Amino acid sequence: MTRRRRIYEGKAKVLFEGPEPGTLVQYFKDDATAFHNQKHGIITGKGVLNNRISEYLMTKLGEIGVPTHFVRRLNMREQLVREVEIIPIELVVRNVAAGSLSKRFGIPEGTQLPRSIMEYYYKSDELNDPIVSEEHITAFGWATPQDLDDMMALSLRINDYLSGLFLGIGLKLVDFKVEFGRLWENDEMRIVLADEISPDNCRLWDVKTNQKLDKDRFREDLGRVEEAYQEVARRLGILPEG
Ligand code: C5P
Repeated sequence: MTRRRRIYEGKAKVLFEGPEPGTLVQYFKDDATAFHNQKHGIITGKGVLNNRISEYLMTKLGEIGVPTHFVRRLNMREQLVREVEIIPIELVVRNVAAGSLSKRFGIPEGTQLPRSIMEYYYKSDELNDPIVSEEHITAFGWATPQDLDDMMALSLRINDYLSGLFLGIGLKLVDFKVEFGRLWENDEMRIVLADEISPDNCRLWDVKTNQKLDKDRFREDLGRVEEAYQEVARRLGILPEG
């Protein structure tokens, strides 16, 4: 891990210089944080599972025409990705009330929303990722109106596709967070899905029992966190052992 140049270290991942220009190696850690870094923990094996789950979901999304930064998985904890300029916006799509939306509006967790709701948060550890509007994003130049249109359209397709995929394995996609980046090719820029998609940034509930199979098990001290991530991988048919 120390032989390559470290480009960026986040809470759950490290980015290293890749083997070719324009590529990076994304390394998945077992570290977990919640509540704006106030809660720290290690979920043994999480990095390995998230690497596999994100590989699977990014590949599937690529197949339906969602451009992503993912190139290929390299080993248990690393994947090769295209180097992109990350847009400093976390886009959250919600289908069912939970988490900060339930808290903000006093809507009981589990309430089906009248339609999918999209929210934007400005990526800033110092400011604890404040919720922002399109006006803030375009006025402060974090993204152009065209970038935002592309991000919204891609997020809706991701939501439609992943909701169906998870429903097929008995899981409800309650909400999720995605990040996008700018990728230049031959003087042309396009917006691509970046970061990861895993139980760290999705809420996934069993359709029959409403059992939580995602990072809320860590946030809410529900126990059996790694088992929940394993169960998601098992239902997707991609358990590392299998
Ligand atoms: O906490 P909140 O209800 O706003 O989270 C909405 C969704 O976004 C959840 O699936 C959560 O896992 C994800 N999220 C994330 N990274 C953050 C904040 C939320 O992946 N910094």
